[in-house]
Amino acid sequence: MTLDDMANPGKKISSPAGNGSTMLHTVNLRKIYTTEEVETTALDGVNIEINEKEFVAIMGPSGCGKSTLLNIFGLLDNPSGGEYHFLNEEVSKYTERQRAKMRKANIGFVFQSFNLIDELTVFENVELPLLYLGVSPAERKKTVEEVLERMQIMHRKDHFPQQLSGGQQQRVAVSRAVVAKPALILADEPTGNLDSANGEEVMNILTQLNEAGTTIVMVTHSPHDSEFAHRTIHLFDGHVVTENYKEKFHV
Ligand SMILES: Nc1ncnc2c1ncn2[C@@H]1O[C@H](COP(=O)(O)OP(=O)(O)OP(=O)(O)O)[C@@H](O)[C@H]1O
Ligand SMILES: [Mg+2]
Repeated sequence: MTLDDMANPGKKISSPAGNGSTMLHTVNLRKIYTTEEVETTALDGVNIEINEKEFVAIMGPSGCGKSTLLNIFGLLDNPSGGEYHFLNEEVSKYTERQRAKMRKANIGFVFQSFNLIDELTVFENVELPLLYLGVSPAERKKTVEEVLERMQIMHRKDHFPQQLSGGQQQRVAVSRAVVAKPALILADEPTGNLDSANGEEVMNILTQLNEAGTTIVMVTHSPHDSEFAHRTIHLFDGHVVTENYKEKFHV
């Protein structure tokens, strides 16, 4: 199996917009966190449209709402107001159950801190999304091994995450993110805990997945990493302030 096969999203959508189909868009998206003492407005009227096959970077200072936005994009959380359309469905008021179903079928996550399960081996960590989708044991073994081979981490398949280097752990996390062939990969500072060589490798893997058709939205503090994206959206205080297209990708 090639990265091309791995990335080929199962779900096709219509609704043309610009150069491709719209994967997601928001209308006046708001998120307010309420604790006993304070209300924090994390997102304050965000309007963003992301097309299928785009590679988008999201940048901005700490606390400006980047992770909050990614969590909503990833159906891990609901907004407090506004609309969120994902694959032509308005999902902002979905229940956790509805969100989980849509998330498992369509979205893979990569986090700064890898978020692997310490008690599970490399193989078992990568197998999890397929278990959730009810894939047969034989098919799971085949698919997981193909992905681990591709990510050059097969020789560590029976190791536990704590026995791996940071770069290796992130390759396992990327394997887990792509194993179910999601249409969308969300990455929150995927190189934040890596040295520059391992960071570069992760960026190259994301680029290959994108070239093979996977939509990627990546939060980053690194101007270097944002260069891999077609477009960079800058957030400040819960707002979009600017959007820059890389010249060669501008349509
Ligand atoms: N669960 C929560 N409860 C209350 N407030 C929260 C919660 N999560 C985030 N916030 C607040 O919402 C705002 C946006 O947080 P968010 O994590 O989205 O920022 P960020 O841009 O990802 O920052 P960083 O670059 O530091 O990761 C911050 O002011 C934060 O304190
Ligand atoms: Mg964050």
